[in-house]
Amino acid sequence: MMILGVESSCDETAAAVVADGRKIYSSVVASQVETHHIYGGVVPELASRMHLEAIVPVVEKALAEAETTAKQIDAVAATRGPGLVGALLVGFSFAKAYAYALKKPWAGINHLEAHLYSVFLDNPAPPRFPFVALLASGGHTNLYRVSGHLQAELLGQTRDDAAGEAYDKVAKLLGLGYPGGAVIDRLAVKGDPSAIQFPRPYLDKNGFDFSFSGLKTAVARQVGENPDPSPRQIADIAAGFQAAMVDVLTHKLLHAAKTCHCREIALVGGVAANRGLNARLTKSARRDGLGLHIPPLSLCGDNAAMIAGLGYHYCRTGQYGALDSDVYSRTRFYASKINCICYVSSLDTAP
Ligand code: KG4
Ligand code: ZN
Repeated sequence: MMILGVESSCDETAAAVVADGRKIYSSVVASQVETHHIYGGVVPELASRMHLEAIVPVVEKALAEAETTAKQIDAVAATRGPGLVGALLVGFSFAKAYAYALKKPWAGINHLEAHLYSVFLDNPAPPRFPFVALLASGGHTNLYRVSGHLQAELLGQTRDDAAGEAYDKVAKLLGLGYPGGAVIDRLAVKGDPSAIQFPRPYLDKNGFDFSFSGLKTAVARQVGENPDPSPRQIADIAAGFQAAMVDVLTHKLLHAAKTCHCREIALVGGVAANRGLNARLTKSARRDGLGLHIPPLSLCGDNAAMIAGLGYHYCRTGQYGALDSDVYSRTRFYASKINCICYVSSLDTAP
């Protein structure tokens, strides 16, 4: 079953063709990072407009690279949420219209479940259920017990900033631009992680929730005390911040595995690209005899291969979308958790 995947939840316009939920035939990602860089973060209205410009060429490129045609596609899968409403609407509406015109079925995919699915793509030895997964990205830091492709139990999440968001905010404080994760990761190896002792925000050491705003404030205090740091001092701050992040993320993931009696763990989302975190988890997993799964770099950040891959399982289980279904924003997503009805107007895209 060949699925065309479409992703537009934030600042990447992506399309991919994946066979039977496993084999990636193409995966095209058009990043808007250059545009948002000067604003120090994603500007939702700009993101929506850029998705509009990119969506058709990106889909055409994905089909061409897969050496297939729209007619040969069996179904279309598109991110339904959570994400920026205006950005989501572009990919989601495109996918619905495209499938309708082609007379093919389509499915609206949960972006978070799709990140969890990224470890199953092009992987001859994927994790066995149940496993514990940490999804760490710019919008989320969630710990799950995953017992099936469409069954993930949320164990804990961040109460304030997401891990990637903390990286981005710290990079901004240090004048390193946006996005900040990769830059801090690179700088961290040049600095001394023990030069500055940043707090490890474990909250309850036995719990699975996270909180990174205090760590970010600790960096802000450092910068406040020394407004003109030398490159050496910036590297030390980056190293100290990264060491605190890696300690907390590693502790929580391993603790979840132990509590849930799982022998396999996964790290997914943009922050999974972090070299320091990768190295620490590899070492800890080997020590504890755990199977560790981290997707390749191309599948850590937002991409459409994970959408198409999971789309296969939505289709296989008959979870097709209706033409009148809508995207769900983060506001709607959280409102549903506390049983609130959320009315989203177009103003919801305001920063
Ligand atoms: O999954 P993703 O592409 O988009 C969201 O769904 O949010 O994640 C983007 C986030 C950004 O906050 C970025 O700074 C972070 O992932 N990131 C990293 C690294 N590469 C990207 N964080 C830490 N270390 C990295 N090497
Ligand atoms: Zn994402």
